[in-house]
Amino acid sequence: MLKKPKILVVGSFNMDVIASTGRVPNSGETVIGMKFQTAPGGKGLNQAVQCARLGADVTMAGKVGRDDFGKKLLAVASEADVDVSHVLTDETEATGVAVILLEVTGSGTQNRITVCPGANFTITVDELAWLKEEIGSYDMLILQFELPMPVVETVAQWAHDAGTSVMVNPAPAAPMSDKLLSCATYLSPNEHEAAILANHEIRVGDGINFDDVKAVAQAFQNRGVENLIITMGGNGSVVAGKDGVHHTQCVKMPHVADPTAAGDSFVAAFCTGLTAGLSQEQALAFASHTAAITVSRMGAITSLPTLAEVQDLMRERAFEGFSPEILDGLR
Ligand SMILES: Nc1ncnc2c1ncn2[C@@H]1O[C@H](COP(=O)(O)OP(=O)(O)O)[C@@H](O)[C@H]1O
Ligand SMILES: [Mg+2]
Repeated sequence: MLKKPKILVVGSFNMDVIASTGRVPNSGETVIGMKFQTAPGGKGLNQAVQCARLGADVTMAGKVGRDDFGKKLLAVASEADVDVSHVLTDETEATGVAVILLEVTGSGTQNRITVCPGANFTITVDELAWLKEEIGSYDMLILQFELPMPVVETVAQWAHDAGTSVMVNPAPAAPMSDKLLSCATYLSPNEHEAAILANHEIRVGDGINFDDVKAVAQAFQNRGVENLIITMGGNGSVVAGKDGVHHTQCVKMPHVADPTAAGDSFVAAFCTGLTAGLSQEQALAFASHTAAITVSRMGAITSLPTLAEVQDLMRERAFEGFSPEILDGLR
């Protein structure tokens, strides 16, 4: 039987502010749009909520501004049972926002996104000092690249020193120091981030070019990364470690509605499954089923499935890798 894991997410809170328009305005021009919506997000919050919906005991550390968006994002986290009692509020900077302009035309939808990190970027190592003593009590620390890099590096080092596993989701892609790489138990970029970080293109034609994937994996291994997981959207994922490169197909869904948060959902599910007691291979299968549900629905937080929904999909697809019932231990 699996156990309920304790997971710490140190990461971002963002509100997505989305305007849909038939035509984007030119410089100095005003156009009338079609629709406006806000949607809670930020890679940190998405991953924390996904871990919690799958049954993990989740604590999140990060920073919001003293404004309505900040309050709303904290409420979303609390509703999902994420412990936000340590989340800080900045007195001057606004809560992080992603301003998204969607141009909706007959030939499809194009997005233009400006992210204002605001309060996320004001968090300091000193403000997280309480974690140094406590971090060893977590089964896993999950980090992304939407907080200041010195904070990411230091928290990773504390976890590493305390013997806590560290998942680094290097998104959005940014140069990684050897120090951070040496603290990462798992590194999980998507194919674009992996290509940038390894400085080697991954070509996609009919399918993914596996020679490119192998070259990218080798570049990470040369830098000491032992467990690399590259997610590749509808092309599934690969794991590259000591025993070579293994590919897992994605779980095909009848309808793909919106790939937003697929990576967040996948990384969170992998970490939850692994720390609950699944093998690496089982945790990958669990993550593929979880992320498949996420892409079949609209939105980010709204699309993240619960444990029961993932178990149902595994039963429906007659998944044979392990019995979905063993996941009941996470309830
Ligand atoms: N079209 C899809 N159908 C089924 N699963 C998908 C699809 N797109 C993504 N996934 C799942 O989500 C995972 C993460 O997606 P990916 O696009 O690589 O992440 P990101 O959101 O970081 O770009 C994939 O490895 C796959 O398991
Ligand atoms: Mg993708």
